[in-house]
Amino acid sequence: MSRDKHLETSKSEIMGSSGKRLRSKSTTVLSPLLLLLLLQIHQTLTLATNETSPKVPALIVFGDSVVDPGNNNAIITTTRCNFPPYGKDFVGHRATGRFSNGKTPSDLFASQLGIKEYLPAYLGTKLSPEELLTGVSFASGGCGYDPQTALLVSALNMTDQLNLFKEYKEKVKIIAGEEKAVDIITKSIYFIATGTDDIANTYFTAQIRKLEYDLPSYIKYLVQQASSFYQELYKSGARKIVILGAPPIGCVPSQRTLAGGIERDCVPLYNEAAMMLNKELAMEIQRLNSTLPGSMLLYIDTYTPLLDMISRPSAYGFKVSSKGCCGTGTFEVTLTCNSWTTNICDDVSEYLFWDTYHPTERAYQILMTKMQQKYGSYFN
Ligand SMILES: *[C@@H]1O[C@H](CO)[C@@H](O)[C@H](O)[C@H]1NC(C)=O
Ligand SMILES: *[C@@H]1O[C@H](CO)[C@@H](O)[C@H](O)[C@H]1NC(C)=O
Ligand SMILES: *[C@@H]1O[C@H](CO)[C@@H](O)[C@H](O)[C@H]1NC(C)=O
Repeated sequence: MSRDKHLETSKSEIMGSSGKRLRSKSTTVLSPLLLLLLLQIHQTLTLATNETSPKVPALIVFGDSVVDPGNNNAIITTTRCNFPPYGKDFVGHRATGRFSNGKTPSDLFASQLGIKEYLPAYLGTKLSPEELLTGVSFASGGCGYDPQTALLVSALNMTDQLNLFKEYKEKVKIIAGEEKAVDIITKSIYFIATGTDDIANTYFTAQIRKLEYDLPSYIKYLVQQASSFYQELYKSGARKIVILGAPPIGCVPSQRTLAGGIERDCVPLYNEAAMMLNKELAMEIQRLNSTLPGSMLLYIDTYTPLLDMISRPSAYGFKVSSKGCCGTGTFEVTLTCNSWTTNICDDVSEYLFWDTYHPTERAYQILMTKMQQKYGSYFN
C-alpha cells in the first residue's frame, strides 16, 4: 500500500518536472519511454533500500566460550579472561571477557545481519532498552550440551541459559509491549555454539563420563540433550535456529599438547569424535526442521573450513596453526594466558589460534565470511 503511494507521488513529480518540456516535439516522443525508465529505476532503488535494512530484529546467542562476551565475569568461575592480553585488539583494547584478542562469532554474526557491531553479554551489564531489543548472548565459557560439562568448571549450563532467556523475554515485553515482543521473539535468529567442551574436557580429559558411556553412546546422549534444548527454545517462541557444529577438536593446540604425543600432532580419535557428533547432530537438526511447524533449524559445518585453515594456513595468510599466540602457545588458556606471566607473539595476524583453545579474531572473520557466503540466504 505505502509502496504504491510512494510510486504515485514520484509519478506526479516526474510528470510535473517534465511538464514544461512536453511542449517541444522531440521530448514528447521520448518522454513516455523516459518516464517508464525513470519509474523503473525509482522502483528498484526503493526496493533496494529496504532490502539492505535488517529484517532480523535481534540476535540471541547460547553456548560456550566461542560466543560468551563476558557472562562468566558475573559468575564465580575460573573459566574467564577479563584481563589482558585478552581483548588486545578489541575496541579500546578492552578485556571484556571475550575469549579472544578481539571480536568473536556472536559479534561478527550480529554485524553481518546489520543489527549491531557488538553483541553484549546478558549478565553483569547495564543494557539500554535498545540493546536489549536487538539481542544479547547468554553463553557461558566452559559449558556444553551435557550439564556435567558446565558443572566441571562452574559455568552456566544450557538450562540456566534458557532460564535467563525466559527472564529476558519478560523484559522485552515490558519495553516493547506484548505484540511487538512476540514479533521480535519470532523473527529473531537464535545462534548456538557448544559441544566442543563435552568431548574435549568432559569425555577425554576429565574422563568423568567414560564409566557410563562409550564414545558412540556418549555422542547419542549429547545429541539427545542438544535436541531437547532446541525443542525447549522452540517452545519459548524461537523459530530461526542456527547451530554451529564442532570443530576438528583433535587439532586444537591444547588437545595436541595433551594427547598428540611428542610431535603435538592432531589427535585422530578426537577428530573422529567431533565428526561423529556433527553427523548425528546434523541429522537430528534436519529431523526437527521437518517436524516442528514453522521452524527453520540450520546446521552449520565449521569442521571442514577450520580443518582446511589448520592444514593449509598459508592459503589464508597464516603462518602458525598448531600453537596459540599467547605464551608458548602450547598450554596457555584463560588464567594461564595473562600479561603478568606471559608474553604474546609479535604478529597476531599470523596466528590462527589466540590461546590454546580459541581462534583469533582474524580466523573467526574468515570462518564467518564463509558461513555468510554459504548460508546467507537462510538468514533473511
Ligand atoms: C520500505 O520501508 C519503509 C519503512 O520500513 C516502509 O514504510 C516502506 O513501505 C518500504 N517500502 C517498500 C518498497 O517495501
Ligand atoms: C544446571 O545448573 C543449575 C545451577 O546453576 C542446577 O540447579 C541445575 O540442576 C543444572 N541442570 C542440570 C540439568 O543439571
Ligand atoms: C527446513 O524446513 C523448511 C520448511 O519449513 C525448508 O524450507 C528448509 O529448506 C529446511 N531447511 C533445511 C536446512 O533442511
